Amino acid sequence: MHNLLQMSSASRSVFEALTQRLAPALAARCAPRDVDLFLIRLERYFEDLYLPLVQLYGEAADWHHQFEALFAQMVDAYAARPEPLRLLDLERQCTPDWFGQPNMVGYVCYSDLFAGTLTGVRERVSYLQELGVTYLHLMPVLKARPGASDGGYAVMDYRAVNPALGNMADLQALASELHKSGISLCIDLVINHTAKEHEWAQGAIAGEEKYLNYYYTFPDRTLPDAYEHTLPEVFPDFAPGNFSWYPAIAESGRWVWTTFNEFQWDLNYTNPTVFREMLDIMFFLANQGVDILRLDAVPFIWKRMGTNCQNEPEVYLLIQAFRGLMRVVAPAVIFKAEAITPPKYLLPYLGVKNTVGKECELAYNNQLMVLLWSTLATRKVTLMTHVLHDMPRVLLGSTWITYIRNHDDIGWAITDEDAAAVGENGFLHRQFLIDFYNNTFPGSFAKGALFQYNPVTRDARISGTTASLAGLEAAVAKQDDYEIDLAVRRILLLHSIIMVYGGIPLIYMGDELGLFNDRSYLSDSTNAEDNRWMHRPPMDWTKAKSRHDSTNIVGRIYKGLLNLLAARKYEPALHYLGLIQPMWTDNDHVFALLRRNPKGRLLLLANFHESEQSVTADLLQYSDLGGNVRNLLAEGSLLTLADGRIHLAPYESMWLAGDK
Ligand code: GLC
Ligand code: GLC
Repeated sequence: MHNLLQMSSASRSVFEALTQRLAPALAARCAPRDVDLFLIRLERYFEDLYLPLVQLYGEAADWHHQFEALFAQMVDAYAARPEPLRLLDLERQCTPDWFGQPNMVGYVCYSDLFAGTLTGVRERVSYLQELGVTYLHLMPVLKARPGASDGGYAVMDYRAVNPALGNMADLQALASELHKSGISLCIDLVINHTAKEHEWAQGAIAGEEKYLNYYYTFPDRTLPDAYEHTLPEVFPDFAPGNFSWYPAIAESGRWVWTTFNEFQWDLNYTNPTVFREMLDIMFFLANQGVDILRLDAVPFIWKRMGTNCQNEPEVYLLIQAFRGLMRVVAPAVIFKAEAITPPKYLLPYLGVKNTVGKECELAYNNQLMVLLWSTLATRKVTLMTHVLHDMPRVLLGSTWITYIRNHDDIGWAITDEDAAAVGENGFLHRQFLIDFYNNTFPGSFAKGALFQYNPVTRDARISGTTASLAGLEAAVAKQDDYEIDLAVRRILLLHSIIMVYGGIPLIYMGDELGLFNDRSYLSDSTNAEDNRWMHRPPMDWTKAKSRHDSTNIVGRIYKGLLNLLAARKYEPALHYLGLIQPMWTDNDHVFALLRRNPKGRLLLLANFHESEQSVTADLLQYSDLGGNVRNLLAEGSLLTLADGRIHLAPYESMWLAGDK
């Protein structure tokens, strides 16, 4: 070691003693150069992983034992890491911005709904390549409990694939096929809870002390009642409350913490053994060839009395520790936070101030998603411009996942303060959005449905596919060509913005073909009460066949998307590392966003109105785009101005760039 890295002397002495203890085991199992690499990385990430571990578990009675065991696990996982993945580790450490390149585009699907099985997905890789996909998120693939499983988010075995989809060898084969095709693989890691059928939960049910400590269980209602004072409910309709009573546990029965459904038991991360178990699972999945772990419901993994038990400081420490450990063993693998929380809590999942570079590389930009729908309904960009102004302008070492919708509902996360800042009433605005997307507001084009409606607060979330929410379903039903045209334009407008904003844009399976809400879930008793299934339609391969025919609706959407993707692919201004700057225009219907980095500048203009709109050409000067401004979405044609203004067709978006 060359002591390149500054560390406190206390950390350094722990590090040095540790490396001496690990050296024989490493040398016995790894080639000398691999031992060197391990030690170099361990030094680099030592404080990142060690300091949070001490804060989390340093007081535990068996801390020294836990600490040793953890490093033994690391050596095991490192020694077992397959050769091609070690090479990938090196490649990605040399290209740490690999996930922030302009060509990154994600696709999200359920393997069974897309292609039957994992092998089926492999056979469809060429479809993904045609779209230019470089990132594939397969919805839960690990072995879930039989019957209702919250769409696979109740895992009973993290080391096995859902048998209906195939087995672990199929997952490995798929991962390596994807790698050959330049696609990285993201899967869900359900980190907050296990299925009650998981062997740990079964141990708890049998009354084993060790496994009772893996979960939060209570003999009576005293503590659950105290926690409930400040706990919200995620699924008040079909899973009210946060605790479930199990008469069979430990003979006398117990209340178990179940934030989501009764069959999803929250894990107890105050127990360092639980931390190590989950770490082992991460290592295992990394070694199968998974590139991105989506940390499901991660805000919930630490509980504190008197709070809503989300986004507690320890959550961020846990991620830091997991990440530091992964960086040593499998640095090719990155984390994605599924944290659907306000910006104040969300940003720390990407790292802020002294945690920059120590948290997740990716996080869903829920705010942008909600604002897109809000703006589509109001046709006014003021709220979106205001809120996005307050989001950080540059992120270092981490970036957004941008999306229009996913497999979950849309919750109207717009604060009263933000609404007030643009002269709206937060409550009334959220009510408007609920009515608009539920099609009860007069003139609404959207066909969505209420999810978890609360008659007391009148709060509700919304389910529906992109096409149905954007008006295509209603327009097709009316056979109204004008409305159809507008709906297609809306779908493309939303995609245009997520592709420019910064980060990895995700296309949700079927949105590229404009698939509508699917009501078949109603006849399946396991899913009937959960209308999120209406926006998880099976892939329509018959429709997909007509995707190259741009005289039909499917073809128009598909071609429009390909146009966006082609323009994005080599555009240096869209590298993640650059400014994301919303700009005020002189027209409330037109959103403007400048992307800027040393290699390029790009100005997005997006008309959220169904009539033609214009903005002042002064924007070009402020953006300093350079001469000969071209619209990359119109085959690079030169921008023409009329009366000193830039004119946009209904729902048109432009990507403007000048000569460099
Ligand atoms: C995540 C998933 C959601 C699931 C929940 C519980 O938020 O996206 O579908 O219900 O976690 O696992
Ligand atoms: C909310 C929660 C998320 C949950 C989802 C389920 O978005 O924040 O964790 O999974 O609802 O629909």
